Amino acid sequence: VQPAGAESEEMSQEVFRAIGEALKEHDGFTLEHYKDKCAKRRIGIRIRATQSSSPEAYSELVSHSVEERTHLLRVLTIHVSHFFRNPSTFAKLSREVLPPLLKARPDGSEVRFWSVGCAAGEEPYTLALIMKERFAAELARLSLSIVGTDVDAGTLEAAAAARYAPERLEELKERQRERWFTKEGAKFQLVPEIRAMVELRKGDLNDPGAYLFSDLILCRNVLIYFERARQETILLRFADSLSPGGVLVLGKSETLVGQARRRFATVCPVERIYRAV
Ligand SMILES: C[S@@+](CC[C@H](N)C(=O)[O-])C[C@H]1O[C@@H](n2cnc3c(N)ncnc32)[C@H](O)[C@@H]1O
Repeated sequence: VQPAGAESEEMSQEVFRAIGEALKEHDGFTLEHYKDKCAKRRIGIRIRATQSSSPEAYSELVSHSVEERTHLLRVLTIHVSHFFRNPSTFAKLSREVLPPLLKARPDGSEVRFWSVGCAAGEEPYTLALIMKERFAAELARLSLSIVGTDVDAGTLEAAAAARYAPERLEELKERQRERWFTKEGAKFQLVPEIRAMVELRKGDLNDPGAYLFSDLILCRNVLIYFERARQETILLRFADSLSPGGVLVLGKSETLVGQARRRFATVCPVERIYRAV
């Protein structure tokens, strides 16, 4: 049995392109390098949510409604994250990767951590918590900057507000929740001391000017949305942005591709930790 209405309609390349152009023209967002199938499925979600009669009708809506473009951009760039996501990765970083990286730095030098596709800030704030809890002495003698960037302005606002539903904090220990958060109704507010350690900025990985010179880059669960060729370009830009011996961390289902494999040595294949060579 065929489902009725727009759901059963295949979106033509023409409509897909028109939607992409509207997003680019009005919002400076490029859909080009995202996997088509993935993007089309997401657009399909909004076609149904707006009860548009056809993909064409939805494309028309996108071209004149700022509100709908905002909704669509949110759906296209999903923002699921939580504190200490993949705890074993952070354990490896804390125990084996960060100590030599920090120790090698002379007093007063700058150390830069960059969390790319930082969603609502869970990842850069996790780095801040680790530094505060385990590397107090290094924090005192070095000048640390932690920057979180994301293409989505809405999610960055959530990151700046730093108020989280309990499920975002599930990997935290009870004492960490008590120490670093204050309960506000059903939510948990991160304390200013940790918030102040992270700078949030809007930035698109497709923009070569948005890359930050760094000693540690976390780019987890972002590359999966891009086509392979684009993944390679992004990874090569990371290699260019890292200091000698700088570290890159990818998501658990992501890996180095193409020429980028020559620019990194594997530190831990399971945790997807690589070092720039
Ligand atoms: C699934 S979340 C990953 C959050 C976090 N890194 C983690 O692993 O828990 C993906 C994030 O990538 C962001 N993103 C998608 N495309 C991007 C782009 N072109 N440039 C920068 N960030 C992007 C999304 O807005 C979203 O917040």
